[in-house]
Amino acid sequence: MIAGDHKDKTLRIYAEPSKDESFRYIIEPIIKWAGGKRQIINKLLYYMPSKWNTYFEPFLGGGALVSEIFRMNRLKSAVLSDKNFDIYNLFSEIRNNPEELIKGLNNIEYRNSKESYYEARSEFNSIRRTHNLRRAIIFIYLNRHAFNGLYRLNSRGEFNVPFGRYTNPHLPSSNLVNAWFSLLKNVDLRLCDFQSATKDANAGDFVYFDPPYTPISKSSNFTAYIDGGFSYMDQVRLAEEAGRLDSLGIQFMLSNSDTEETRKLYSSFNVHGIKASRLINSKGERRQGASEIIVTNYA
Ligand SMILES: C[S@@+](CC[C@H](N)C(=O)[O-])C[C@H]1O[C@@H](n2cnc3c(N)ncnc32)[C@H](O)[C@@H]1O
Repeated sequence: MIAGDHKDKTLRIYAEPSKDESFRYIIEPIIKWAGGKRQIINKLLYYMPSKWNTYFEPFLGGGALVSEIFRMNRLKSAVLSDKNFDIYNLFSEIRNNPEELIKGLNNIEYRNSKESYYEARSEFNSIRRTHNLRRAIIFIYLNRHAFNGLYRLNSRGEFNVPFGRYTNPHLPSSNLVNAWFSLLKNVDLRLCDFQSATKDANAGDFVYFDPPYTPISKSSNFTAYIDGGFSYMDQVRLAEEAGRLDSLGIQFMLSNSDTEETRKLYSSFNVHGIKASRLINSKGERRQGASEIIVTNYA
């Protein structure tokens, strides 16, 4: 484990955002994402290390933590990645075509009705998975109108979540897109398995792992983000990767559900138990207080 250099948590003072980057203040996740970290963000900020060189977030999803780090003006150099094509495509399009993306969102023809939603879903499924602005725009629309904001593909790779019946769903503002544009400007963005990203980390870097959680019950379903899911063997592979990073002097923080297996996998590190209110059921009919852990390899 890496020795801590900061027992005093009050040292974690936010740096002042520079005046010309006022977008920084309004940033928040641009999509709703299962397992998004908004509910436990303060705990993550608390357990983060006090300094690092490059920041790695290899299970990016909606990027709740990286957006906080950016707001704090502490995002200097970063590698952000996910294995989900639509996450990658969305952030690439924000970075490469922010104005066209904003225009597309403002002019989108789909409305908040069942009929419109299913038309949007068909169009989305007809677009090939290559860099694609239109696919990113409809992805955002679907994210705001799908049942529980879920993302789920069938075995043919088609998005198949039903209509969500929200009273007043809204698409992200142009300011929010611009805030993400500022964040992504100097970021190395990748579509890859977590291990291909973290192989490039060096001593002094910081990696935040937020994998699909180990199921806490048979009905929990946290693994439907990508074709193939995230198996127990992937959890083992991740724990081994965390061990490898530790041996190289790379700081890591990891969140997962509090189960016997996860505690065993990380028993040689600091394991902090926390409570989180989270939607954990794929049917989405109830919220429950779930017990989670935050693991760190530094004090
Ligand atoms: C719990 S979510 C991350 C949520 C994110 N921290 C947020 O705040 O929204 C897990 C993410 O891991 C991605 N994922 C699943 N398997 C992966 C793998 N083998 N390598 C990289 N990313 C993977 C999923 O696509 C999903 O976006």
